[in-house]
Amino acid sequence: MTETENKAIEEAVVKFRELMEAQLTRAKTIKETKDFVDYQNLDKIIIGICGGDGIGPIITKESMRVIEFLLKDEVEKGKIEFKVIDGLTIENRAAHLQAIPDDVLEELKACHVILKGPTTTPHQGDGLPNIESANVAMRKALDLFANVRPVKVPEEGIDWTFFRENTEGGYAVGSHGVNITDDLAVDFTVATEEGCERIARLAYDYAQKNNKGKVSIITKANIIKTTDGKFLNIAKKVGEEYPDIVTDEWFVDITTAKLIDPARRKDFKVFVLPNLYGDIITDEAAEFQGGVGTAGSANIGKKYAMFEAIHGSAPRMINEGRGKYADPCSMLRATVMLLSHIGYQKEADALEKALDICMFDEKKLTITGRDTGCTCEEFGDYVMETITKLK
Ligand code: IPM
Ligand code: MG
Repeated sequence: MTETENKAIEEAVVKFRELMEAQLTRAKTIKETKDFVDYQNLDKIIIGICGGDGIGPIITKESMRVIEFLLKDEVEKGKIEFKVIDGLTIENRAAHLQAIPDDVLEELKACHVILKGPTTTPHQGDGLPNIESANVAMRKALDLFANVRPVKVPEEGIDWTFFRENTEGGYAVGSHGVNITDDLAVDFTVATEEGCERIARLAYDYAQKNNKGKVSIITKANIIKTTDGKFLNIAKKVGEEYPDIVTDEWFVDITTAKLIDPARRKDFKVFVLPNLYGDIITDEAAEFQGGVGTAGSANIGKKYAMFEAIHGSAPRMINEGRGKYADPCSMLRATVMLLSHIGYQKEADALEKALDICMFDEKKLTITGRDTGCTCEEFGDYVMETITKLK
């Protein structure tokens, strides 16, 4: 080892210690929050409407219109209140050099649930400051540990629900990797006992309540032995408490293959998986139902919950003046999950049914992202008209 290399390693060790201290503190704080919020017992539920970037504000506004329409009486009674939060734009975040500026985080924390539009994530070489993704920051700041992503293609027998762990794995310290020397870069992946436990329990509880019969635990525990090994062992242990549910274990590589096997993929029901595999596989899975633009996502924590589209902010559409043709479907799917989460199951079902009709069956209007299709607002009207007809 040269002297420079020795020094570089010493510096990295200091950084490593800081990271580990922060992770241990996080592991302890996870244990402090025991129960989920009971929304129906609250006098008022505050829904944050956080538009984000690019097409985000356009599609998020459409969702707010639909919620106002569905929960008209509740809004009038004051049981539901909206709080519009504007500051989560890339310009504002870059100006503050923060993934979520402090004042925006305070506003978010004043809400019970949040509907969030996509936000731009800076990446290597785009000229933006190296700030963390706002999604990832929000998941961490509000401890939204479960990313729940349903994918359904009824005619193919596909009915999957993914429980992606949302605060750990490669994401926990994803922006704190270390370039030890020019020759060596190191990133970290993290798993905590409690973090693995709570996501597994949520997945099994869901499988139980919804008669899904099976939970598949997806890891790469044959290679990433320590953290994935922990995830797998804890999930299996939780599974033992649910004798009516079959547990199976898969490695992530073969899982991606089996999802495109029409004969085998029907057998999957509920998946529980570490963060990065969940990120990748849920994009693949969404493709079967028409792409990431059709999928919504719930980020659930014990105290807060956030609902979002799983696609990006489509800056190109804005630059080309096509923003008003943005597709609100993913955001409306996220709205279905929001309504269900806060206890408005009837309204959630009505919206889901209307979306199935508008997107797959009747298709009276279609979104193409350009003036060859309808606008975001026209589609929102179409969905609301369809809900009215269903009544
Ligand atoms: C997602 C997205 C995010 C993620 C990005 C935008 C940071 O891909 O929600 O799946 O990696 O989690
Ligand atoms: Mg993703």
